[in-house]
This record gives sequence, C-alpha cells and structure tokens, in this order.
Amino acid sequence: MTNPSILILPGDGIGPEVMKEVRKVIDWYGQNIGLVFDVSEDLVGGIAYDTHGTPLHDATMEKAQQVDAVLLGAVGGPAYDNLDFGLKPERGLLRLRKEMDLFANLRPAQCFNALAEFSSLKKEVVSGLDIMIVRELTSGIYFGEPRGIIEEGNERVGINTQRYTESEIDRVARSAFELARRRGNKVCSMEKANVMESGVLWREVVQKVHDEDYQDVELSHMYADAGAMQLCRWPKQFDVIVTDNLFGDLLSDAAAMLTGSLGMLPSASLGAPMANGRPKALYEPVHGSAPDIAGEGKANPIACILSFAMALRYSFDEGKEADRLEAAVESVLAEGYRTADLLGEEGVDPVSTQQMGDAILAALNATL
Ligand code: IPM
Ligand code: MG
Repeated sequence: MTNPSILILPGDGIGPEVMKEVRKVIDWYGQNIGLVFDVSEDLVGGIAYDTHGTPLHDATMEKAQQVDAVLLGAVGGPAYDNLDFGLKPERGLLRLRKEMDLFANLRPAQCFNALAEFSSLKKEVVSGLDIMIVRELTSGIYFGEPRGIIEEGNERVGINTQRYTESEIDRVARSAFELARRRGNKVCSMEKANVMESGVLWREVVQKVHDEDYQDVELSHMYADAGAMQLCRWPKQFDVIVTDNLFGDLLSDAAAMLTGSLGMLPSASLGAPMANGRPKALYEPVHGSAPDIAGEGKANPIACILSFAMALRYSFDEGKEADRLEAAVESVLAEGYRTADLLGEEGVDPVSTQQMGDAILAALNATL
C-alpha cells in the first residue's frame, strides 16, 4: 500500500516558519505512530511569482490535484501590493480553491480554556465556545460574472456579481448538516434574503435539503447582519453556521477573534470525494502571512499545526490521532506556553515559534 500523500505549500511571510513546525509534527507521526506520509513541497503566492512569474505554476496546480491533502501556510505581502490583480499572491490560493472545487470551507472557532481571558468579550461569553462556520468557497461574489472595472459615460464602474445555483447551495448545505450530526446537531443558515434574490434562493434550498434529508437536525435562518450581532452577543447559541462565500469570510474573522487570537485557528476546505474515497482537501490556518513579524521566530504555529489535525480527521480518517494532537496543544497552553500574540498575563515571557513546536512535540511524546 502506498503512503498517503501531502503537498506542503508554505507560501509567504510567516508561512514557511510555521510550516517548519508542522513538518516536525508530521515526522513525529511517522516515527512514533507508524503513520507515514509522502510529503512534497512547492511554491504558492508571492514566492511563486518571484520564481515563476505566476502565483501558482500549472505544475503545482497539477500536483495539488493528485495528492490526498494540501497543507498551505499563508500568501501575500506588501512587496506584491502593486502587482496586476491576476498576479497577486491571493490569486494562487483562489485558483487552488476553484480548480480543486473545494466548496465547503470549515472554520472552527473554538475557545481554549487557558486563553479565555484573551477574548475581547467577557470570559463567561466565550469560555467553552465551540462553533463551526461552513463557508461556501467556490462561488458567490468572489467568482460571479460579470466582474471588472468598466467605463460608463465619463466615469468608471466597479462590478462584481453574487450568483448561486441551486446545486451549489444544496451541496454546501449537505456538508453543514452532515457535520452538525457529528456535533451539536444544530445548523443556522445566514444570508440576506431581505435584500438579495440570491439570499431568497439560498434560504429556500437550505430549507428543502433539511426537510427532505435532515429533519433530525435543528435548522434556523438568520439575516447575516443579525448573525454578526448575535455572534458578538451570545456566540454559544450556535453550533454550525452555514453561509455564502463573502458573508463567510467576514463572519469567520469575527468568530475567530471571539476566541482571543487569530493565531490559533485552523481551517479545512473540502471538495467532492476522489476515487480513493477521500475528499479533495486543502488545509490552512485562518491567519494571514503577517509580513510585519515574518522571519523573526515570533509567529504562533498552532493554527497551522491544528490545520494538520483537521487533515488527520477529515482526509485520513484518523480522528483519534487528531484528538491526540489537539489535546497536546491544549496541554502546552495549560502549562503556560505563549507565543508573542498571546501575551498579556503578568510575568510570562514569550516562547519562539520553534519553542512552541518543540513543546507540542514534548506533549505528544508524553502521550505515548
Ligand atoms: C480568507 C482570506 C482570503 C479570502 C483571501 C486571502 C483571498 O481572507 O481565506 O478568509 O478572502 O477568502
Ligand atoms: Mg478572510
């Protein structure tokens, strides 16, 4: 039997340094659990542009289509701000999502007990928080046509189009209901059906999928703006939130911040099953490339390490090993290890990216 394969795309900014710690965790599983992965590495984002003149080389795209899972660090940086739109680092990521057809983006917002005081909200509002945002990732206003900047009379007009087909809504709704069954069994769907026809259709299709196949799951609908407000007011009312590409982008950043640090949160982007039964999949931290601290060893590798935990769970059917890794992270936080993004407690000195990675390996060793 061949080993499962992983393509690592560290990308830009802090991507390479956090990915280095993930590599150590991947190797740990090979050495200690016998879970050996075939790991290859390639370029995406600004660094791919510097090397190949494109944020994602065709050969890299091809590789991403072949492997069992892609692990991505982060893309972007100020050096690329003035590039043509189609050459920007972000286009590399968007191309991966689109061509792999990764329609279901899972963004958990989970509050680690040791970090509850880092939230901008009161501790009782966030402690124990565990919600999952399912963001549609391959359609909507991010990709809808027509788009562009056109001349109209004597001025320019910027155009983007929100567009959803029934089947696009149907499949992401199913992902959300399936997930909910394995969690708190509740889905809240968010759109703006009060002002957008695409929102009217969204609500209708989600309700239909529910009534036909998921009546056992509790379903509610909320306008996305009210949803944003409720997320800040009492986030624990939610279990799974399903929403479109743009609302999901905004709501997931807000939800992430409830937990105290963007440096903690992983994500999975899943598509249809491949021939071997595994879903097409890309895993990445929710945080960006943080160019201001890149190369300084200050970055928090936990979001990227937890993204690998999601890969263990959703691509490799190793839920127990994912639990083991998440527990290791939980325990180093409980022991007081803090990277610079998690400071605030008195008398705590920050650990480096590498020290945090090593502490997690030590915690993994302690589980053997
Ligand atoms: C995200 C990011 C991306 C997005 C950018 C980098 C293209 O904000 O993954 O949430 O807008 O989807
Ligand atoms: Mg975003």
